[in-house]
Amino acid sequence: MRKQPVIAIAGATGLVGNEMLAVLEQLDVPCQELRLFASDQSAGEVYSFRDHEVSVEVLSESSFEGVDIALFATSASLSEKFVPLAAQAGAVAIDNSSHFRMKPEVPLVVPEVNADILSAEDKIIANPNCSTIQLVPVLNVIHRHAGLRRVVVSTYQSVSGAGKSALDELWAQTLAIFNQKDVPIEAFQHQIAFNCIPQIDVILDNGYTKEEFKIINESRKILRLPELKITATAVRVPVFHSHAESVNVETERELTPGQLAELLASEQGIEVYPNFLEYPMQLKVASTDNIHVGRIRKDDSVDHGLDMWVVADNVRKGAALNAVQIAQYLLQKFGS
Ligand SMILES: NC(=O)c1ccc[n+]([C@@H]2O[C@H](COP(=O)([O-])OP(=O)(O)OC[C@H]3O[C@@H](n4cnc5c(N)ncnc54)[C@H](OP(=O)(O)O)[C@@H]3O)[C@@H](O)[C@H]2O)c1
Repeated sequence: MRKQPVIAIAGATGLVGNEMLAVLEQLDVPCQELRLFASDQSAGEVYSFRDHEVSVEVLSESSFEGVDIALFATSASLSEKFVPLAAQAGAVAIDNSSHFRMKPEVPLVVPEVNADILSAEDKIIANPNCSTIQLVPVLNVIHRHAGLRRVVVSTYQSVSGAGKSALDELWAQTLAIFNQKDVPIEAFQHQIAFNCIPQIDVILDNGYTKEEFKIINESRKILRLPELKITATAVRVPVFHSHAESVNVETERELTPGQLAELLASEQGIEVYPNFLEYPMQLKVASTDNIHVGRIRKDDSVDHGLDMWVVADNVRKGAALNAVQIAQYLLQKFGS
């Protein structure tokens, strides 16, 4: 891979794609040329990148010729079609959709946890689900120091996790309610304004939602703990940005809240709130890079139990930043 790569963003006009553009600029990622792709509706839109302007092109079969790194922020069905085309054209594709995540041959990566599995031969790399990305770095620290016995996670996920149309819908519903108009319902199964919906993605035969299974299966794959006892409940809440998670863990060995706070605080990318009177909240955490962990306390209902509250910006660390960090790792390790 060239040290000064040609980078493409597919889905550049969406929430994640747009944030990728910002992160590439803010992290000063080496880039000799940036190409932006989206649907024909956005073709011709112009974005500024560093000191020049880049026009959005229509995503097509030939989009990836000459591209070294292709960042995908498209739906699972578009990624299914275009990610292999990018790889065949010689690019390394880093995909944010769910399509490739659980394929055994595809690395699923949160760099601070398992970048070591990446090799120069990887052509398709998957970015995990946003709820998983903010969870596994915390679980990894706990497992390394005390051994994970069981994990129970409940999510409070913002509407931006469902894309720009969902973000617009929370605004539109809120305005409609204040103006006593009909409430438009398209992005979610029910009204999300002034409501919580305990369903994200489709409901499976066993009663779990697909989102809950993503958290369970992806965590097991990234942590390399295929037998990990972990369960999840995923809930959409009327918040614009950032996901929060209530995380309960049972460990093999004793780990005090103070020890955990200290361990987490020494990790890159994690911010800890050791004072009980302070805690991370979605409103404050939006647009930040870190995973924020607060309310760490002992769960006395089991031998070695801990509770905590984990919050991160789902579009940033939960998607765009994590993908760009993977690209940075590849450039540093394999760039020539
Ligand atoms: N939002 C999150 O927090 C988050 C977190 C983790 C993973 N993800 C995943 O990341 C992906 C993108 O999510 P998002 O939230 O950014 O969605 P989004 O805001 O709805 O953006 C979708 C992007 O796909 C493009 N697109 C749609 N149809 C297309 C077509 N036929 N050809 C080419 N481009 C097309 C859109 O372009 P136009 O503007 O031209 O329509 C837009 O750029 C999804 O797979 C999602 O599951 C999202």
